[in-house]
Amino acid sequence: MKYGYFDEKAREYVITNPNTPAPWANYLGSPDYGAIITVNAGGYSFVKSGAAGRILRYIFNQFDEPGRYIYLRDEETGDFWSASWKPVSKPLEKYHTECRHGTSYTEFISEYNGIRSRALYYVPMNATHEVWRISVENLTERPRKISVFGYAEFTTESFYTQDLVNMQYTQFITKTEFHDSFILEQINEFNYPRPDGTTGRERFFGLAGAAVDSYTGRREQFLGRNRFDRPQAVLDGKCDNSLNYNGNPCGALQFSLELDAGQKRTAAFLLGQKTVFEAKAIMDRYAEPEKTVDSELAELIRYWHGELANLKVSTPDKSFDAMVNTWNAFQCFTTFVWSRAASLVYCGERNGYGYRDTVQDIQGIIHLDPELARKQLTFMLSAQVHHGAGLPLVKYSHHAGHEDTPEQDSYVKETGHPSYRADDALWLFPTVYKYIAETGNTAYLDEEIPFADKDSGTVREHLKRAIHFSMTHLGPHGMPAGLHADWNDCLVLGSQGESTFVAFQLYYALNIMKEFCENEPEYVQYLEEAAEKLLTVLNEKCYEGDRFIRGFRDTGDVIGSKKDREASMWLNPQSWAVISRGATPEQADKILQTAYEQLNTPYGLQLMQPSYRYDYFEGARMRLFNPGTKENGGIFCQPQGWAILAEALAGHGDRAFQYFKESSPASFNEDADRRVIEPYVHGQFIEGRESPFAGRSHVHWLTGTASTVMVGCVEGILGLRPTPAGIEISPSIPSDWDGFTMEKFFRGKKLHITVNNLAHREGKPKTVILNGAERAPGVIPESDLLEDNKIIVIM
Ligand code: GLC
Repeated sequence: MKYGYFDEKAREYVITNPNTPAPWANYLGSPDYGAIITVNAGGYSFVKSGAAGRILRYIFNQFDEPGRYIYLRDEETGDFWSASWKPVSKPLEKYHTECRHGTSYTEFISEYNGIRSRALYYVPMNATHEVWRISVENLTERPRKISVFGYAEFTTESFYTQDLVNMQYTQFITKTEFHDSFILEQINEFNYPRPDGTTGRERFFGLAGAAVDSYTGRREQFLGRNRFDRPQAVLDGKCDNSLNYNGNPCGALQFSLELDAGQKRTAAFLLGQKTVFEAKAIMDRYAEPEKTVDSELAELIRYWHGELANLKVSTPDKSFDAMVNTWNAFQCFTTFVWSRAASLVYCGERNGYGYRDTVQDIQGIIHLDPELARKQLTFMLSAQVHHGAGLPLVKYSHHAGHEDTPEQDSYVKETGHPSYRADDALWLFPTVYKYIAETGNTAYLDEEIPFADKDSGTVREHLKRAIHFSMTHLGPHGMPAGLHADWNDCLVLGSQGESTFVAFQLYYALNIMKEFCENEPEYVQYLEEAAEKLLTVLNEKCYEGDRFIRGFRDTGDVIGSKKDREASMWLNPQSWAVISRGATPEQADKILQTAYEQLNTPYGLQLMQPSYRYDYFEGARMRLFNPGTKENGGIFCQPQGWAILAEALAGHGDRAFQYFKESSPASFNEDADRRVIEPYVHGQFIEGRESPFAGRSHVHWLTGTASTVMVGCVEGILGLRPTPAGIEISPSIPSDWDGFTMEKFFRGKKLHITVNNLAHREGKPKTVILNGAERAPGVIPESDLLEDNKIIVIM
């Protein structure tokens, strides 16, 4: 079934049937003031930390409640409904609604009984409060009296678990106050009051652009003995002007409208963690809500659409375009900014950045905003320990030069991470390379950055130490030891087990490093010898003719041999053999074909197969998951991006695109019940063929899938491959495409690219015409580019 469509002109996903199989969500604001809002206005808000700064209550994994509710009541009949379909859930034959999820805002446009409401939710740029703009329009020929109720359910405590479970304490620490236009929640009012009498923990919920007719700060009064579909105050037509003292606080404000035929009125509810003085100042700014909201929304859209503007593609496949131009790109920014902070799955308990996650997330936005990427990349380099490894978890409070590390108990106690992973710092190589290639800023390699614990060095020095860390943590075959995990969190190989995936990563890193250290012949020689040795081991010990094995256990036994009964074929060693350029073209064709034959499903490639049931070993932690799920034979989505990229690099455009389509959220727009989560957002994994629910996806929004699929599409399928010297354009596309166009800004220059595929080939273009002059395909040096360029690529 289909629940909505992509409106690419507005860069919005429009949900026309709100009865979606899961709460389809959107992100507002930033982790400084973050808000998640669903198709039915469910969700929560927080300040700085989803776990420790929660200000709106939300019950996970339940009924998508509470939410940012706006109720409308017809004063003549007593009939009432909500601006979002739920919580009141009027019959959809009579209640017409659209939920428009946009770039950092969500709007509900609903019509019921001759009244149109528009409820717009957003967090203004650089602000730490949220706005719910509500406009009500009388579409009938007669005057109407409508009452509007806004409802926000505050937490009693910033620590969301305390709010939910420690009720012998948290139910007795709040009270609410009413201040003319807003409700103020006090928490531990008399604990450490500041000189001005505030604590800094107050929250407010206010109404601007209309006078409050009634209010309550008590959830028990607002709801009575009912639930959100029939709150007592809405049934009664008024709140009773009561305030809480103990129990559950809320902000509920009601105002009345008299609307002539055709008349429309606008007001705004405002919410944030603010003192009484700050709240008053914010309320004043919205005295004329329409004006303020219009300009704030325009600013928000300008910013986000500006962020997405560096690349625009137009292909024969509109769902590919919607993902690359808007939704995958917006998700890349969301993972870049939010990391794994908070979603409807992540509660905000991971109090920092995962090293590998963030270094990979950065890759997803380099082609759109390389300078923003650089800032975070510099930050992550400063989270490398002096011996070259990455800190497994980089605290939000990271203070480079002064951090403790997994060698110290204090770090382990605070973060729960006892040791290093084999892959963390190796992600720096492709990320630094992509940044330098996009910008041409080779001077970045000489920029001085501190290490996490002590010392400082240039970016080049940081990378050298990363290589040093890997080279001093090799296992018995001379391949990188798997340590606490490689990319796969469920593969614990220790100091004696070895990972082919990381071996290919290291091989790739060694080759990138050769380019970065051209003026150091001795070091280049060292890199070359190390790379050659590694590739020899990979070929001699890990290649089985049609696949690379996954590695070695600490006992020396092979993982992922074709002889094995379980887990005999793994995806990542195959894709990474190709991405790292370690595989010969013949090997590439063979291993990619085996992956296709053994791992592919209608919903993408399984991470491995068959899943572990009986033949696992101690370090194979994925056995904890049901077969066909997550790392145990699920269709892990992040590796789909690598498979797309590998096929594209091998010149297999048909296969690359097939893999894109199989796992792309947008492919499930018409079959959304199978996939369950949002058709505009990648998830962490899809259940594989051993699950009775094959095709169902999980863990929406905050996942490394966003960046790898983006890179797979942009570098792989579209073939936009910047290098430090310039840019190569080498698409790998479906052979049935006649061609496509791209508009790209590259180092401040405009590229209008037309790809002509009337020959119906799938990869490796024949000719490139740059501003009228024909040339062989390959890197176009930056110096050959004008300000404005017409590039024709003939396949
Ligand atoms: C999760 C983790 C990521 C890991 C992946 C595979 O997505 O966030 O760090 O690489 O699982 O185990």
